[in-house]
Amino acid sequence: MNEKIGVIGGGQMGSQIASLAAMAGYDTHIYDQDLDNLNQKLNFSEENLKNLILKKIYNEDHLKNFKNNINVVNSLENLSKDRTFIIEAVVERLDVKLEIFSYLSKLTSRDVVLATNSSFIAASEIAKNCTFLDRFINMHFFYPPLRMDLIEISYPESTNKEVVLRTQNVGKAMGRSIVTLKKETPGFIVNRMLAALVDEAYNLYDEGIAEFEDIDLAIKKGLNHPLGPFEISDYSGLDIHYYAKLKIFNETKNPEDYPKKFLEDKVKKGELGVKTGKGFYKYKKD
Ligand SMILES: NC(=O)c1ccc[n+]([C@@H]2O[C@H](COP(=O)([O-])OP(=O)(O)OC[C@H]3O[C@@H](n4cnc5c(N)ncnc54)[C@H](O)[C@@H]3O)[C@@H](O)[C@H]2O)c1
Repeated sequence: MNEKIGVIGGGQMGSQIASLAAMAGYDTHIYDQDLDNLNQKLNFSEENLKNLILKKIYNEDHLKNFKNNINVVNSLENLSKDRTFIIEAVVERLDVKLEIFSYLSKLTSRDVVLATNSSFIAASEIAKNCTFLDRFINMHFFYPPLRMDLIEISYPESTNKEVVLRTQNVGKAMGRSIVTLKKETPGFIVNRMLAALVDEAYNLYDEGIAEFEDIDLAIKKGLNHPLGPFEISDYSGLDIHYYAKLKIFNETKNPEDYPKKFLEDKVKKGELGVKTGKGFYKYKKD
């Protein structure tokens, strides 16, 4: 494997992105400011991988590669030392990402690819304050990366085509299907389409046309989707949907963009979905 992969941020996404890289045979380094959380997430990945081997989704070679190829490093500086391809997956905050990339662009040589897994922040925005803008790219995985077979790639005009090719190659080596966008857009394809589906489901519920369980059932049976829009909301977190709508409202000032009252009430009560044990549905907490 020609690339040496570095992953920054070892939360639910970064830990599994690093796992995929290691399983594909890449020498992989990962850094997170919270080492305990990182180690916990990597243990979780390993357990997950063992289960997926039992289900014949992966094999023993993947587990061997996982164990041999991942190294935890204790600083951003150490991570930057000899990596050729860096994927950032820290918290979705522009200020944090800007600081990390401005640091990386000074520490790494210009042929190192700097990719972000951000769901909504474009590579062009992240590259502000940086040098050598031709190496920035969005490489957007889906949760959980060990299971979800898609990576969306998007990039600004300034990005070198060789960087796009290298990113596609890394994604393919990880065994993922790749969709490369022709232009940058917030939310890429999947989250833009999902937002439209969820918005319309919320409208139907708000207008009293059907119960949310029936809207989910209709979408699952009528469109053959594995999850309904209210179930998806619970899995991704109701706070995410609430703050995404609030951001749009703050920009447009259009009252129709304000989050629905039922959503706001749930977020205020801390009913955020699977992660808190209750959203639209109830869940057993671990
Ligand atoms: N969760 C999803 O479904 C999903 C899907 C696709 C993309 N994403 C994107 O992936 C990124 C990470 O999301 P997540 O769900 O893994 O979040 P998470 O909260 O699980 O993990 C974020 C990690 O970043 C670490 N971190 C924060 N600041 C840091 C810093 N300065 N240096 C090093 N580490 C730092 C935290 O300690 C934490 O472990 C976000 O940009 C998000 O938009 C998330």
